[in-house]
Amino acid sequence: MTLQVVILAAGQSKRMQSDVPKVLHPLAGRPLLDHVLEKAVKISKHPPIVVYGYQGNLLKNHFSTADIQWVEQKDQLGTAHALMQAMPAVVSKQLLVLYADVPLISDLTLKFLLDKTQLDAVGLVTAHLDDPSGYGRIKRNQADEVIAIIEEKDALLEERAIREINSGIYVFPTAFLRETLPQLANHNQQNEFYLTDVFNFAAKKKLAVQTIQPYVREEIYGVNDRVQLARLERIYMRRKAETFMQAGVSICDPERIEFRGEVSIGRDVSIDINVILAGKVQIGNHCVIGPNVELRDVIVGDHVEVKANSLLEACEIGTHAIIGPFARIRPGTKLADHVHVGNFVEIKNSQVGAQTKINHLSYIGDSLVGRAVNIGAGTITCNYDGANKHQTIIEDDVFIGSDTQLVAPVIIGKGATIGAGSTITKEAPPHALTLTQNLKQRSNTNWKRPKKDI
Ligand code: UD1
Ligand code: CA
Repeated sequence: MTLQVVILAAGQSKRMQSDVPKVLHPLAGRPLLDHVLEKAVKISKHPPIVVYGYQGNLLKNHFSTADIQWVEQKDQLGTAHALMQAMPAVVSKQLLVLYADVPLISDLTLKFLLDKTQLDAVGLVTAHLDDPSGYGRIKRNQADEVIAIIEEKDALLEERAIREINSGIYVFPTAFLRETLPQLANHNQQNEFYLTDVFNFAAKKKLAVQTIQPYVREEIYGVNDRVQLARLERIYMRRKAETFMQAGVSICDPERIEFRGEVSIGRDVSIDINVILAGKVQIGNHCVIGPNVELRDVIVGDHVEVKANSLLEACEIGTHAIIGPFARIRPGTKLADHVHVGNFVEIKNSQVGAQTKINHLSYIGDSLVGRAVNIGAGTITCNYDGANKHQTIIEDDVFIGSDTQLVAPVIIGKGATIGAGSTITKEAPPHALTLTQNLKQRSNTNWKRPKKDI
């Protein structure tokens, strides 16, 4: 076995001020650790070794289906101590070490690091930052070789001025670690066993240390507190937005869009501000997504318009549909092509046939709605009797007058018309007019509208 990956994720995350392990905090809707795992599995075929500690069960439960070799670090005594716990599980000649709180590292940079580092050398990703505060500083000799990494808390004033920092991403010959890790001490400001101290030993042993820079500097930013997490979130979103824009998507403001899942978007799609795309989202070509729209686990066909302030969840939208403004489409809903769903309409667990219109203030739940149906304003499917949910079936070419209640289970036959204000409790026959209101219209010409007392 040539290469294994170890991810250090046991830290207590004091600076997050959280009861939840830092690496479970979400970036773009997924835990920090998930971002690092995604890179690890691309770089090595072998299951990554994850060192866990603080609230470890929460972590293991969250990733219970992933192929991970878990190793516990009972006490969080530092990064070297964490890695030491993993060493018995290591069987490869070379070891890539990643920190779970450095989530934006790209597979390109990792590949570059591995390509550049000889099997018997140590490889290290460094970066030159305008503000290096918080990171370990890279100390070099006159020949420009790395001789040490100094943690900020232990650094002298002139060392703090060094702008080249340690990303926490390294590749080591396994034998070197086995020999060196047990020799480290914790005589430093934090009384921790620092993994960074192995670089002193590498220098003493004249082991070559190869450094590389990331493709994009922001890749190596770490997350120690919630301010840094929010900063990384914006970086992630901007980069995603730019990738989509390069691929033919117009994004009104790349600073005001959220990608919180696996998103694919076709060409000539235009997305307005404050749009959240979460979970598995697939948007076809030539769509227009209005402002303040949230799509969560949604498949959207071509030429669809989703107007402002609509929320769509776990549903499928056919081509040429027009949704919203202020529409709510709930899980289990499938709209066919050319469907119109207007303002203040809620649809749940229903199928709606092509060219059907539900344009105003309606609730359609647990329903099968046919083609070319027109559902008037204020129509409610009464699907719940207090104990069970029942189905409403509305066949093709039905016209439902405004302010109608359809008390499920009920069937409205093909081509039927329902008079406005009806409460339908029995099957309405096809092609007939069915109405239930029996108030005859009357007028009183002597009636006076009450006036306000002055
Ligand atoms: C570390 C590096 C620093 C580098 C920075 C990059 C050390 C000593 N310092 O500092 O040089 O610039 O990362 O982001 O390595 N962890 C454990 N067990 C522990 C302690 C930490 O698993 O006992 C894990 C944490 O969960 C985290 C990672 O190791 O994922 C780094 O630990 P952290 O405490 O965040 O180190 P930094 O102070 O950021
Ligand atoms: Ca860190």
